[in-house]
Amino acid sequence: MMSRTAPPRSICLRRSVLSVPAINSRALEKSRDLDCDAVIFDLEDSVAPEKKAEARGNLRDFFAGPPLTGKERIIRINSLASGFGSDDLELVLALEPDAVLLPKVDEPQDVMMIGDRLAEADAPESLRIFAMIETPRGILNAAAIAEAGRTAGSRLDCFVVGLNDLRKETGVLPQPDRAYLVPWLMQVILAVSAYGLDAIDSVFNDFRDQEQFDAECAQGRAMGFAGKMLIHPNQIEAANRHFGPDEAALAEAKAVIAAFADPAAANLNVVNLNGRMVERLHLVQAERLVHKAELIAERSIARRKTVS
Ligand code: COA
Ligand code: MG
Repeated sequence: MMSRTAPPRSICLRRSVLSVPAINSRALEKSRDLDCDAVIFDLEDSVAPEKKAEARGNLRDFFAGPPLTGKERIIRINSLASGFGSDDLELVLALEPDAVLLPKVDEPQDVMMIGDRLAEADAPESLRIFAMIETPRGILNAAAIAEAGRTAGSRLDCFVVGLNDLRKETGVLPQPDRAYLVPWLMQVILAVSAYGLDAIDSVFNDFRDQEQFDAECAQGRAMGFAGKMLIHPNQIEAANRHFGPDEAALAEAKAVIAAFADPAAANLNVVNLNGRMVERLHLVQAERLVHKAELIAERSIARRKTVS
């Protein structure tokens, strides 16, 4: 059998990215047992200014506890301009999460400045940078910001869209189909696709409305987002379902891989798969999908072991 080529860039599972206010110790503890792919420990907008120090203390205590196995750990800091950001960044350097999430990124310099601070402090390479794209300038500059991820030593890995801030800044009203926002969301998708980053779709505020949340997850998946930022545990299951490969897509991907693995297809760039043309570019997509499914299976095995 032909060996499978390695996926072009490493795949991280980011279907469900739950925000947990660092001020809420009970929610922090709860996050250990939840089936989300990633947790954003929020020091920014969900924490009142007079509670920032207490929230940092909570995070120190939480990180001193049992490790959060199998989940990406992301700390959202305040901007440096707010006066809280430097202390937040000190905490990030002490706790060494998987990533630091920068709020309200307007331009490439916002990412580069934090990258320089991390490099000066000898932060491990594994500590990545995520950027909230949630301001008009952030949307306008999305491509330039994503391109900053290409510079040597850049830690930029992922964009997270923030529509609450964007709606506030632009006056676009909440609507079920996000019609007026779609062009901006797709601009973000174009930017991350051009420079090899992931994009996470914005939160959905009405956490009791499962039907509308399902619809928004389906829309985000169809647009090309890797996952969704969540605010409540009852949003995790739907996000995992929508942003993970479904059975039909997985079967199709395996069929594409098998078709190209056939020795008769060794020198072919195009094959006939049950009356449909399949190109080698579909093989890359198929391999990424199967790899993602493998990661999901590994995660649920690891999770079963932890829970039992
Ligand atoms: N992470 C972990 N656990 C959470 C959670 C979260 N984001 N949101 C709620 N929970 C827990 C609650 O602590 C509660 O646990 P318990 O049953 O053990 O007491 C359970 O889930 C049910 O919560 P519920 O009563 O339905 O909601 P709530 O009133 O406690 O919280 C919010 C509602 C909106 C305040 C809360 O979900 C929240 O703070 N979400 C995140 C907000 C945020 O991060 N904003 C910034 C990014 S936009
Ligand atoms: Mg915001």
